[in-house]
Amino acid sequence: MERLIQPARNIQGSLRLPGDKSISHRYALLAGLAEGATRLTNFSTGADCASSLACVEALGAQVTRKDDSSVEITGTAGRFHSCAAPLDCGNSGSTMRMLSGLLAAQHGTFTLTGDPSLSRRPMERIRNPLAQMGAHIDLTDGHAPIVIHGAPLTAIDYTTPIPSAQVKTALLFAGLEAQGTTTVRESVRTRDHGELALRAFGATIDRTLDSVSIAGPQQLRAIEATIPGDISSAAFFLCAAALFPGSNLIFDDLGLNPTRATLLDVLTALGAHIGVLNLEDKHGELVGVVQVNAPPQGLTGTTISGALSAQLIDELPVLAVIGPYTQNGIRIRDAKELRVKESDRIALVAANLRAMGADVEEFDGGLDVPGGQTLHGATIDSGGDHRIAMAFSVAALRAHGDTLIRGAESAAISFPEFFDLLDRVAER
Ligand code: S3P
Repeated sequence: MERLIQPARNIQGSLRLPGDKSISHRYALLAGLAEGATRLTNFSTGADCASSLACVEALGAQVTRKDDSSVEITGTAGRFHSCAAPLDCGNSGSTMRMLSGLLAAQHGTFTLTGDPSLSRRPMERIRNPLAQMGAHIDLTDGHAPIVIHGAPLTAIDYTTPIPSAQVKTALLFAGLEAQGTTTVRESVRTRDHGELALRAFGATIDRTLDSVSIAGPQQLRAIEATIPGDISSAAFFLCAAALFPGSNLIFDDLGLNPTRATLLDVLTALGAHIGVLNLEDKHGELVGVVQVNAPPQGLTGTTISGALSAQLIDELPVLAVIGPYTQNGIRIRDAKELRVKESDRIALVAANLRAMGADVEEFDGGLDVPGGQTLHGATIDSGGDHRIAMAFSVAALRAHGDTLIRGAESAAISFPEFFDLLDRVAER
């Protein structure tokens, strides 16, 4: 599907966004293993989280969709059913990696498959530590399909070589069922939704500044929860609003977990005005109202590197594409992980920015996007990657002329409502 994006004059309005993708995955997977009926409202509407639901259903959980965003999951009380058919994780790396952690200690053999993009993504990062715990996992040349032969697990103390919340969570999920205390240490604090979700479902977790431990085995109990709005989906609108002096955009019930909200600091550093109100705690997750207004003189510029790059990993594409519209540009370093996401996001951002007439320099682990540039509308190849399709829809708002986004349907992987909401808040 192609989508035509016309330039905008301003961004105004208020939005309540579908539930956070990372939290929805974790709640769906843990609910599938817990005892009792979990009721979730504002569950992510994206296809990725539907993959997690379909997998736990195939593993014996009862999944009942109440409406688009409410779901009831009756769990398997600690024991997934065996399942002869492959578990289809679709486009979702989160489903594949985190479910592998849960399945490693279960009885039976399980096969996990994915679409062509997921089948190219690295899976050694979960196989290695899980194998150290005693798991029997076969990969296909380092990738999916993954075959897991359930086995008893023993706790390990593991330091993650690359910052990855998916890997950390997979190990904590495996630790839930292992004998002994599993500890995961990380040099950069990645998103902690796995830890918070385990606690919400009744598990005991110990945390220090740079480590998290879980003693196994433990049982989980069902919960009732409303999932906070997805700040990585909000990112596209936050960045869009930051580009238009006179803009005013408000988000209700937005997830503001400190390990996810770094974008607000970056936008503030770029000169945008960000207000945060009505903070609340929901199962350990911070939720609040966010208001963004653009600075009259335009955004300045910044360099994102080190720990910041890991914490902003999903927001880097949209930050890169607003670079040309800033005064001093956006430089991104230490972000090689972008090359092994749903697409090679460094290559696609660079190629598509050039298609819009921008000057951009590409590095192995980053990009230099100079500021003060004027872009023109172009045809964008999203590479079937949701975040590329949405990022370039934002770049298109300030370009001269219309932009055609190819593969626009991929937005539905995380955010099916994206284009409708963009039309609602963009003044033309
Ligand atoms: C996620 C972690 C990140 C992120 C992905 C979701 C999660 O991946 O890019 O969109 O929910 O844990 P990595 O763990 O591979 O960095």
